[in-house]
Amino acid sequence: MQNKDWSEDYLKRMIVEQRKHMWRDDTIEMYSRWMGLKQGMTVVDAGCGLGYLGWTYWKYFSEGGKYCGVDKSSDLIEEACVMAEEWAQGGKVSFQQGDAYALPFPDNYADWTMCQTLLMHLEFPERALAEMVRVTKPGGLIMCNEPDNLSASMMVVDFSENDVADDYILQRHRTMMTWVRGRKKLGHGDFSIAVKLPMMMYDLGLVEIDSRCNDICNFVQPPYETPVQKYRMETAKKYIEENEDDQRRHKREFKEYFLAGGGSLSSYYRSMKKADQINEEYRKMCRDNLENGTWYRSWGASSFFCIKARKATWGLLPKGVPGDSTRR
Ligand SMILES: C[S@@+](CC[C@H](N)C(=O)[O-])C[C@H]1O[C@@H](n2cnc3c(N)ncnc32)[C@H](O)[C@@H]1O
Repeated sequence: MQNKDWSEDYLKRMIVEQRKHMWRDDTIEMYSRWMGLKQGMTVVDAGCGLGYLGWTYWKYFSEGGKYCGVDKSSDLIEEACVMAEEWAQGGKVSFQQGDAYALPFPDNYADWTMCQTLLMHLEFPERALAEMVRVTKPGGLIMCNEPDNLSASMMVVDFSENDVADDYILQRHRTMMTWVRGRKKLGHGDFSIAVKLPMMMYDLGLVEIDSRCNDICNFVQPPYETPVQKYRMETAKKYIEENEDDQRRHKREFKEYFLAGGGSLSSYYRSMKKADQINEEYRKMCRDNLENGTWYRSWGASSFFCIKARKATWGLLPKGVPGDSTRR
């Protein structure tokens, strides 16, 4: 299986639609103070996609500042340039095709280097992080917005009062652990990268490491009137109406990761049989509840982190430097 191509339609829709409800405006406002953003900053966004982080934080650095997005997909870069004409209104913005493992900037170039849902897809996240550190000025800021999707898999509550639900949720979590291990083993990234990042940052000699969690609680409930509720309803409908091709694609991907993670073929078929049965019942329940306007579901918190750190001004000490007793 190839690593994902984010310019494919179904994935691109995700980095447009899902992003509209990803962070609250007041959270971004608070983060801008927490991170000490200033007008005039030079900003690098690694794995920028369509430039989401650029337009989200633009007003906090754009006066005299510049935004430089880098992504490996030339299609996304092309589209990001067009979109930036609207949000940057002639401000200094550039996009270029490039690799997060070899960012096209000199050492100590940026005041702020950032990424969002990039490291979770990389085989060697620590190398990309080291590259982000390299291009950041001493004293400069590094920010990584990444998830811990494994913990999030335990949070789904649907109030279906279905007797099998408890066992199923536990079994599904175990299956998910195998899936996550397999995905990582195949070099497609760590779905729970967020919880490992503070230590990776420490190992790279970064300082002032701190982390916050997205405060969005995911639930959908009647009367489904706000924009975010409408979006979640749409997402639910898509899930219910998922076509057979998409279902097959998901199963193929699931099987490959599950087996690579150490799951056996027999446990795969057992899990699938159970999942098919539960999904069918669940889809029916959703369809009925959606029709009556009584559907309620909560995914709990997002488990989506914003982790920040600074590059030390006194130079980086590689791990294990003699005399540095604070390191492992
Ligand atoms: C999930 S998308 C996130 C895009 C954007 N940061 C956002 O939050 O909307 C992951 C992005 O990382 C890019 N990407 C993956 N591997 C990369 C690499 N080695 N170098 C540069 N970009 C990469 C993909 O093309 C994709 O645009």
